[in-house]
Amino acid sequence: MPAAASESAHCTPVSGRVVLCRAGFEGEAAGELAAAAAAAGLSGFARASSGSGVARFELHDVTTQNALEAATPWPRLIFARTAWSLHASVQALPTHDRVTPLLHAVQTHGQHYAQILVEHADSDSGRELSALARTLAPPLRGALQRAGVLHAQAARDLYVLLSAGDAALLCSAARGAASPWPGGIPRLRFPSAAPSRSTLKLEEALLVLLDERERERWLRPGMRAVDLGAAPGGWTYQLVRRSIHVTAVDNGPMQPALLESGLVEHLRNDGFRWRPGKPVDWLVCDMVEQPRRVAALIAAWLRDGACRRALFNLKLPMKKRREEVLLCLDLLHAAVPGIELRARQLHHDREEITVLALPPSAR
Ligand SMILES: C[S@@+](CC[C@H](N)C(=O)[O-])C[C@H]1O[C@@H](n2cnc3c(N)ncnc32)[C@H](O)[C@@H]1O
Repeated sequence: MPAAASESAHCTPVSGRVVLCRAGFEGEAAGELAAAAAAAGLSGFARASSGSGVARFELHDVTTQNALEAATPWPRLIFARTAWSLHASVQALPTHDRVTPLLHAVQTHGQHYAQILVEHADSDSGRELSALARTLAPPLRGALQRAGVLHAQAARDLYVLLSAGDAALLCSAARGAASPWPGGIPRLRFPSAAPSRSTLKLEEALLVLLDERERERWLRPGMRAVDLGAAPGGWTYQLVRRSIHVTAVDNGPMQPALLESGLVEHLRNDGFRWRPGKPVDWLVCDMVEQPRRVAALIAAWLRDGACRRALFNLKLPMKKRREEVLLCLDLLHAAVPGIELRARQLHHDREEITVLALPPSAR
């Protein structure tokens, strides 16, 4: 082994949790890790450098790593595109051989892994590392395989998060516990017939917030949906392509091709006032409005049984974004006992989050 490469690099053991998030939302992502850790009685500190697209929580006590992982499962985190447990920080990787010191650091940790993924953040500096991540992955995988670190049956996956050309965080997650997409970003292709790019928001929401079985059961041809704030029809397009009937409520114009599908009724009405005559399977809502007003509207529809499930966007142009989200979710919990809320800032969400609301009767 070329000893010099391992000797110049430093590996510092660190225990904690790392999440990838939208650049600019590191404070919110770190805030939710810190709040969950505090609620579980775990002491440590949050670290989030603005614009990095990464947030982490470092534990004071290494033995509480499993408890932190249990307290911060990825599906429950709103601002995290994915979440991993943190084991070590490796610095001063020599550019001529990054593989040897990384292999050494992984071996020091003494675990086996099912697979290795080399990742980078979705930020200006993170994206500059994408080529390195691609070229580093095959030789690192080969070295780990030869060293006997990779086993198909192992319970966890290894994530190497590049933080600079010469630095990385070693992380891991139980199989299936982190996002299945690199960087937590499903790669979706914009459908050329769709009327607006926001079609990808609903497509991503249906992919990330529902599992395969739920998509099969809850998105059936012939179902009925209402789309509040529908124009020009990006969200309606996603429902129509699944042969769902849509009442599209918006004063703005809808794409003519959607109206010609025979599945769309366009009503030029106020989305805060209009209600359907009969309950519908889905309410979707992308109106640009105060989040509390939208949350109260959705709560009223669900409480009155006007829709079975709801999927909606909360716009967050304010400073206290996490506080506003928590307030909206509390409002829904109070209005609809037993409601399940799945909330996430998706890749296609900008200053906003998407929420799936499932009352007990809808599950
Ligand atoms: C972000 S756009 C919706 C884009 C749409 N989801 C798509 O994929 O094409 C917001 C829409 O909300 C509509 N809107 C805002 N307030 C509304 C209200 N009170 N009632 C109905 N529509 C409203 C606007 O006219 C605008 O078309």
